[in-house]
Amino acid sequence: RDNPLVLGIESSCDETGIGIVRGTTLLSNTIASSMDQHARYGGVVPEVAARAHLEEMIPSIEAAVAEAGIRLADLDAIAVTNGPGLAGALMVGVGAAKALAVALGKPIYAVNHLVGHVGADLLHVPAADAAHPDQSAPAGPALAGSEPLEYPTIALLVSGGHTSLLLVRDLVSDVELLGETIDDAAGEAFDKVARVLGLPYPGGPQIDRVAVDGNPKAIRFPRGLSLPKDMAKHRYDFSFSGLKTAVARWVEARQDAGEEVPIADVAASFREAVVDVLLTKAVAACHDHDVPRLLLGGGVIANARLREVAKQRTDAAGIALRIPPLSLCTDNGAMIAALGAQLIMAGHAPSSLEFGADSTLPV
Ligand code: KG4
Ligand code: ZN
Repeated sequence: RDNPLVLGIESSCDETGIGIVRGTTLLSNTIASSMDQHARYGGVVPEVAARAHLEEMIPSIEAAVAEAGIRLADLDAIAVTNGPGLAGALMVGVGAAKALAVALGKPIYAVNHLVGHVGADLLHVPAADAAHPDQSAPAGPALAGSEPLEYPTIALLVSGGHTSLLLVRDLVSDVELLGETIDDAAGEAFDKVARVLGLPYPGGPQIDRVAVDGNPKAIRFPRGLSLPKDMAKHRYDFSFSGLKTAVARWVEARQDAGEEVPIADVAASFREAVVDVLLTKAVAACHDHDVPRLLLGGGVIANARLREVAKQRTDAAGIALRIPPLSLCTDNGAMIAALGAQLIMAGHAPSSLEFGADSTLPV
């Protein structure tokens, strides 16, 4: 089962992602986002996301197949995210994947979204595409997965829906969740603080933009659940809701006093607090488990300061840092296809059609 041709379907949140890979080679990666439809609500509305997946699913599959230059009949398997994520959104992808698998008579692999983020790092982009680098790639260190992913590795996954720290001993058989957010996801915190500052949704890029002119040391915001000394509960867990409240209180106090709010300083100081706590825990996880490798994934990886501090701290600690291209960091189908291909190459049996969407699927 060398280099299987796999179509991956991702619909756990607001991106309808269809990706096609051959082994570890990326052939196409089509992403349709319903982000714009959620903007007026300041966050992803599950029903709106599910409906958008329904509308985008078939056109996205058609586009990905055309872009890859393959026929559906050539596929070796279908892979699909069956959790964790929004239940209604997941169900659309799971339903589409099952229908495709049955209609084509192909095996199906149900995969975990978080593990899929790690799988993104395995993909290499054919040279023709690499010559046209990702237009949306942010400034800062861009580190490609040109060399194979080595095990074990620590993975820090940060997006609007999750904030998780994983110990990956083997992608297809041994992934351990070390910690996760106990309240808001990191991206969600960016979105909520942006709202407090009167900036539009999604807030992450906005905060990044205004923070450029701010002083990150202007205000010392709290680092939630800052690293306990022992291996206690919550050592690798995150909490961002206290930070969000602290920023809101600080801003309100200025407004009540009739003072101008120094938006750039607030944004820079908030961003610094998030980046500090994320990387303190990620680097501690590397130390504690004697793993000199850190992989970053998720949409928040677009954050310029996060990339910068990640580079500084991993360099200082002798940890090899890996950041896949941004188009593979945000939610996408290619990472799901990549994980499916790994399962096939490792000889794993396909999933039986009985599986369903599981919004709280563990790794
Ligand atoms: O992975 P992603 O595209 O999908 C979802 O989680 O739905 O992540 C989107 C999240 C949003 O919360 C957005 O505000 C955040 O990633 N984000 C950022 C930046 N760009 C996007 N957060 C901080 N800094 C950024 N530059
Ligand atoms: Zn994700």
